[in-house]
Amino acid sequence: MVMSHLHFQEAGSGSPLVWLHAFPLSSELWRPQLNGLTDEFRIIAPDLPGFGNSPDFESDPSVEHMANAVMALLTQLGIKEKIILGGLSMGGYTALAFARLFPESLRALILCDTRAEADNAEGKANRDKMIATAQNEGAAPIVEQMLPKLLGETSQEERDGVVQTVRTLASQQSATAIANALRALRDRPDSLDLLPQITVPTLVIVGDEDTITPPSMSQTLAAKIPNSRLETIAQAGHLSNIEQPEIFNRIVRDFCKTL
Ligand code: MLT
Repeated sequence: MVMSHLHFQEAGSGSPLVWLHAFPLSSELWRPQLNGLTDEFRIIAPDLPGFGNSPDFESDPSVEHMANAVMALLTQLGIKEKIILGGLSMGGYTALAFARLFPESLRALILCDTRAEADNAEGKANRDKMIATAQNEGAAPIVEQMLPKLLGETSQEERDGVVQTVRTLASQQSATAIANALRALRDRPDSLDLLPQITVPTLVIVGDEDTITPPSMSQTLAAKIPNSRLETIAQAGHLSNIEQPEIFNRIVRDFCKTL
């Protein structure tokens, strides 16, 4: 399928490390990694379809289309070597879709604050409500609904800068992007069957205050992926990479040294 090219941010040189962002944000989520890991890695952080400066989906929104768009970006950049692919939440769902579609392109996986399970009936019904809200009232109510869940208790109480960054990033996203991504999230397949087939080294990271994809979901990922390790970050919620950036970056560096 032909996809419009994704907008992306790039920094550093070394092994390609691709980061896929969460909903409803953009590549800017990865600012601490774009700034903090560039001495060892070539960091590539795309805006997923419709978010940031990327064009909307050209056809039905799905995590597979997101994964295809990421592959098209790698081709556009002439990257032929295997990549380390990291994704947080929606980015993690997309990373799992990529692992299913393009296993031969992976050197390692980093699954952050995400899960393999599909939405249950209640989750799907909630997505439908949010899609209707985005279409009828715009992005703002969705942003307000998501914000308290995206960050952990500690960040909400003590890290004003992080709260402001997330609010700003979420507020910049369009209602169309949000509604389309919600459709992709609602319809994503269950990936539990894929996990035992993942052969690349996999790092699973979760914030211990994550309420959207709580630590038990990361424990499932780590238990079912053969060559995996689980790292739990204290005093971080769903967006562990910006809530505890130094610890997050150290965990990533330590893992990558083992590859
Ligand atoms: C995300 O952070 O990407 C979303 O909250 C994921 C989800 O709602 O399932």
